[in-house]
Amino acid sequence: MVSTNTDDHFVVFDGVQKSYDGENLVVKDLNLSIAKGEFLTMLGPSGSGKTTCLMMLAGFETATNGAIRLGGKEINNIPPHKRGIGMVFQNYALFPHMTVAENLSFPLEVRKMGKAEREKKVQRALDMVQMGAFGGRRPAQLSGGQQQRIALARALVFEAELVLMDEPLGALDKQLREHMQFEIKHIADNLGITVVYVTHDQTEALTMSDRVAVFEDGRIQQLAPPDELYEQPKNSFVAQFIGENNTLMGKVEQINKDLAVVRLDNGDLIDTVPVNVSNVGERTLVSIRPERVEFNRERLLPDAHTLKAEVLEFIYMGDIYRTRLRVAGKEDFIVKTRNAPDQRRLQPGEMIEIGWRPQDCRALDA
Ligand SMILES: Nc1ncnc2c1ncn2[C@@H]1O[C@H](COP(=O)(O)OP(=O)(O)OP(=O)(O)O)[C@@H](O)[C@H]1O
Ligand SMILES: [Mg+2]
Repeated sequence: MVSTNTDDHFVVFDGVQKSYDGENLVVKDLNLSIAKGEFLTMLGPSGSGKTTCLMMLAGFETATNGAIRLGGKEINNIPPHKRGIGMVFQNYALFPHMTVAENLSFPLEVRKMGKAEREKKVQRALDMVQMGAFGGRRPAQLSGGQQQRIALARALVFEAELVLMDEPLGALDKQLREHMQFEIKHIADNLGITVVYVTHDQTEALTMSDRVAVFEDGRIQQLAPPDELYEQPKNSFVAQFIGENNTLMGKVEQINKDLAVVRLDNGDLIDTVPVNVSNVGERTLVSIRPERVEFNRERLLPDAHTLKAEVLEFIYMGDIYRTRLRVAGKEDFIVKTRNAPDQRRLQPGEMIEIGWRPQDCRALDA
């Protein structure tokens, strides 16, 4: 890392590797800089190394190789409680025999803070998560979502600049999870803290983060803001991991800088953006999002390639219509349309023609 600006490089993983058994690397070569105040999410399938990265940053695991820096200082040899990092664990654990206020006060006592100051900070942290009136209760007397907020307050109470959260909302039902997503995001923004957040829920990652690092098998496959990740996935792993998408297999027929014509396996031609294909004849997996598929001829460029499709199923989902098509020999091609007054409902059995803007269709590694 050449730059000395510690605000842009508040947390730095520099060539970090981790092996638990001395043989297999579960974190392969992690290079990641997180800016001060950033909300960065590590997203990836189970076992891809997310918790391991967080544990190394928190100091509960040591890096096998490489350096981890915080605010410009190397922290590899600093014990967890001296790193000044707040943490919400994958399975949040509040002490059951202590009241809520005592749970929050505990990390401050460990830091030898006086009683009056402790009480002030505990109240402030509880107010932050809208639990100001619950200091006297025990965890068992709270709902799951309320316990989750207390776990969050405990990570915030000693005013750490960096807070790590490992699947903090995993135990909550959908509605509460969505509510807490916004709440955590707002608290983080208001306090200006830096958050490193771990989840395997892609919607959560997209809605909360400034940037998302997509992990696969101990490596970052793509690091980008949510919109870029969703709209410009760099390879087929990321495209298939983030959001829903239709995939078609084919071979590059013609290629230039911003357009590749692909011949699908059934012989049809389509227009794509070449993302990681570079030669005529190369195999490719083509990816197109269900909401970018058009079946109104007027909305397509006059010379766009189109595909014939048969409507197999129409599903009414309230805000959207989800239609399943047979396209190029596949029966799982999905089109999503907004439930709007000018939008037609496709009928099963109907034959239609579909197409898209070339920039919405990405030719990726096969
Ligand atoms: N203490 C440990 N000893 C040995 N192997 C471990 C240990 N902790 C994790 N692993 C292994 O390291 C790899 C990465 O695990 P990690 O917990 O970092 O994954 P994760 O991305 O957090 O997964 P999940 O989404 O399931 O929580 C896995 O193969 C796991 O089995
Ligand atoms: Mg984990």
